Amino acid sequence: MPDGILSPRGRRLVDTPPAAEYLLERVIRAPDRWHPASDPDGHVELCTAENTLLAAELAEALGRVGSPPTAVLGYDVMTGSAVFRERLAAFMGRSFLGRVFRPEQIAVLAGAGSVLEVLFYTLAGPGEGVLVPTPGYPGFWPDLETRDGIRIIPVPRTPDDDYRLTPVMLDAAVAASPVPVRALLYTSPDNPLGRVVTAGEVEEVWAWADRNRLHVVFDEIYALSVFGSEPFVSAASVRPHLGERAHVVWAFSKDFGASGLRCGVLVSENEEVVAAVDGLAYWAAVSGDTQYRLGELIGDAAWVDGYVAENRRRLAAAYAEVTGALDRHRIPYVPAAAGIFFLVDLRDDLGEPTWESERSLWRRLLDEGDVNLTPGAACRAPEPGFMRLCYAKEPTPAVLRGIERIAAVLGR
Ligand SMILES: Cc1ncc(COP(=O)(O)O)c(C=O)c1O
Repeated sequence: MPDGILSPRGRRLVDTPPAAEYLLERVIRAPDRWHPASDPDGHVELCTAENTLLAAELAEALGRVGSPPTAVLGYDVMTGSAVFRERLAAFMGRSFLGRVFRPEQIAVLAGAGSVLEVLFYTLAGPGEGVLVPTPGYPGFWPDLETRDGIRIIPVPRTPDDDYRLTPVMLDAAVAASPVPVRALLYTSPDNPLGRVVTAGEVEEVWAWADRNRLHVVFDEIYALSVFGSEPFVSAASVRPHLGERAHVVWAFSKDFGASGLRCGVLVSENEEVVAAVDGLAYWAAVSGDTQYRLGELIGDAAWVDGYVAENRRRLAAAYAEVTGALDRHRIPYVPAAAGIFFLVDLRDDLGEPTWESERSLWRRLLDEGDVNLTPGAACRAPEPGFMRLCYAKEPTPAVLRGIERIAAVLGR
């Protein structure tokens, strides 16, 4: 392309697209997806953190809501209608935050990704650092780095300490950071580990952020997808106030299996942060129709409680079947108690413990097995060989077929 047609930043997006290779493959292979009758040899997508286990029930419930009021056809507050934010405050308070925030402390944008992109725009400047424990959710890098120009500073966690994040590790990451650090982005329950943490760990991390006068953003997008014995502990329930520098993010994408509806939520007690986010909300607003439909659903406490409970049951059942298959094929994994994924440990299958070997193993699984896992490199795993397996996007029989193919490629 001749110079000057795109701006330098437009050119950067074309030359170095934010989407990782595994996501590009996902799009290419999507038309040839596994189907029990028509395409049993089709592609098995295990790389995407989506939950379709209750898709039919959700679509049916959304259909029952009926016609929206004509008001949804017009402009409203760009961070969400007052009615929707009131209903969110009640629903989130009751179901996982542990207390009810005021609607003015809530902002709604088009998915958690938009919330994070806009929130961090207001918290950190270009070239400043945000700490992200690794392995982490691959999307954090594009969310924070692409347009906000923020630099993610990884905080490596390892299996040796059970992936626990400690103040010592955070201190070391700040000391090694080449740029000033402004915030910590802490995901709980965790992606890709599906780890549930105690109130003690949340408080320890939060106290560390306070001591260092840093913002801490608690990404709690998997709050209601906990299926193990340990209960989820929201940051909002650990202290009586979030204060000026703590913020909570959630979305309908995972716990409701509605990533396509694009509805994420920010909870913050910092009026200036909410006002700054409001200044950018017009470009990432949620459709009035979507707000109306989701608002009606969460306003029905009996329905929503039943849905959340059934989702947990189905996640637990899918996790048990999928890990049972891995056990039978002697493929090790890091056990999870929440979320819609976990890490499989393919270190013994790498040959050499290098990122090149990890990439070629990922490629072999894709080309020979037609199975797409999320490579550990995309999660910035501290060592090669761990790949994320998402088991709630495809029907469980497809996931089990994918595991058979993985085992065949690995010669197990
Ligand atoms: C931890 C975490 N945060 C944010 C997101 C982005 O979610 P959304 O689809 O609501 O933008 C994801 C999606 O996978 C996630 O796992």
